[in-house]
Amino acid sequence: MSQQEQWRSKIGFVLAAAGSAIGLGAIWKFPYVAGTGGGGAFLLLFLVFTLVLGMPLLLGEFMIGRKSQSDPTQAYGKLASNKKWNFIGKIGVFTSFILLSFYSVVGGWILLYIVQILSGGLSGLTQDQYGELFGEMISNPYSTVAAQLAFMLITIFVVSKGIQKGIELASKVMMPALLVLFLIIVIRSLSLDGALEGVKFLLVPDFSKLTSESILFALGQAFFTLSLGVSVMLTYASYLPKTQNLPQSAISIIILNIVIALLAGLAIFPGVFSFGIEPNAGPVLIFSVLPAVFEHMPFGMLFFLAFLLLFLFAAFTSAFSMIEIIVAAVTKNDSSKRKKSTWFIGISIFIVGVPSCLSYGVLADVQLFNKTIFDLMDFAVSNILMPLGALLIAIFVSRIISKEELFAELKQGSNVGYVFFSFCYFLLKYVVPIAIIVVFLDAAGLSAWILTFF
Ligand code: PHE
Repeated sequence: MSQQEQWRSKIGFVLAAAGSAIGLGAIWKFPYVAGTGGGGAFLLLFLVFTLVLGMPLLLGEFMIGRKSQSDPTQAYGKLASNKKWNFIGKIGVFTSFILLSFYSVVGGWILLYIVQILSGGLSGLTQDQYGELFGEMISNPYSTVAAQLAFMLITIFVVSKGIQKGIELASKVMMPALLVLFLIIVIRSLSLDGALEGVKFLLVPDFSKLTSESILFALGQAFFTLSLGVSVMLTYASYLPKTQNLPQSAISIIILNIVIALLAGLAIFPGVFSFGIEPNAGPVLIFSVLPAVFEHMPFGMLFFLAFLLLFLFAAFTSAFSMIEIIVAAVTKNDSSKRKKSTWFIGISIFIVGVPSCLSYGVLADVQLFNKTIFDLMDFAVSNILMPLGALLIAIFVSRIISKEELFAELKQGSNVGYVFFSFCYFLLKYVVPIAIIVVFLDAAGLSAWILTFF
């Protein structure tokens, strides 16, 4: 058995975990679900769910990871002294595999858009034309698959370098760059005429716009953006020494995640309102609306290019975490096997992802349950596998591991009080499972049926 890898620095871990959290979820999905779900009211709910449900779950994954110092397919069994619990980690590994198979498709789109800008093919169009261009672009089977492959190759390359030289180093450079670039873009957006309308839309809650569906979206969004339920955070925490302050790290990651989602909203909505574009344009919001928004600005395409680059950074740091947990499970922390395994796993993920990529073009008519292959994969991951994993983790942490053991683990490296701990424990034991079951009912289409009784 070889030596377990470790993060080089405390901040390296925080940035890598924040990098996993911040990705397509915060930057691409958040503005469009907030736009569709009522703006400010959605934001408020997202914040509440992040703090009340996300925070205890994140701490839960951190505790199991660091305490076990094991990969996700062994950690649970080790702590429970019963191997049968390892199935929770195995579900997480499987989920991550499927997740990355379609996440890399969107990663490829970002790459393609960057190429479009650099080749001068992305300017001087109206917003509708940008929409059409985007539609055409993602339906081309050759370029999208090639871009998806390129995205996977870069991911494989970085992760094959290992924890310190790969993920940690990349996150340390990419995350601060992301923050700085975002700030510049937000300042630019806020200086547009009529920007205040967009700010109001995002920050002033109008509860009349909330529907049961947007409440559930906000819940799913909180889990997805914090990378919870798939044992990714567990795996990252397994590379930690006992001196790391877990509650402080969790809070830093949560704050960073919220800040980026807010910045994404502040980058997008002022422009959307300033140019009279509908905020509920959906998943194409960033790709078809933003170029039009940026085009109205001086140096607009340069700003859009900067935006796409940071968007790409964020997608990469999330992709690293998805493949890392599979690598950890396969190599069982034997670093001599890392390189080969990462290549093998990465290429397999790419192959499995090709049909998702093609489902925007040649395979658009292949549908199951009224969903394209891409949508089906996304649905299976976001609405079934991730909430299921989060539910199991909440149950495992709060009902299988003893409360004293957990507190002892949490106290190492921090002087967290018993009251704070007990509050998180309570949330994990009762509030988190109930909330997740509600999401499940929604996924099964039962919530609408239940709501008819009220
Ligand atoms: N948090 C990532 C994002 O917002 C997605 C993710 C989910 C990453 C689960 C890893 C595990 O894009």
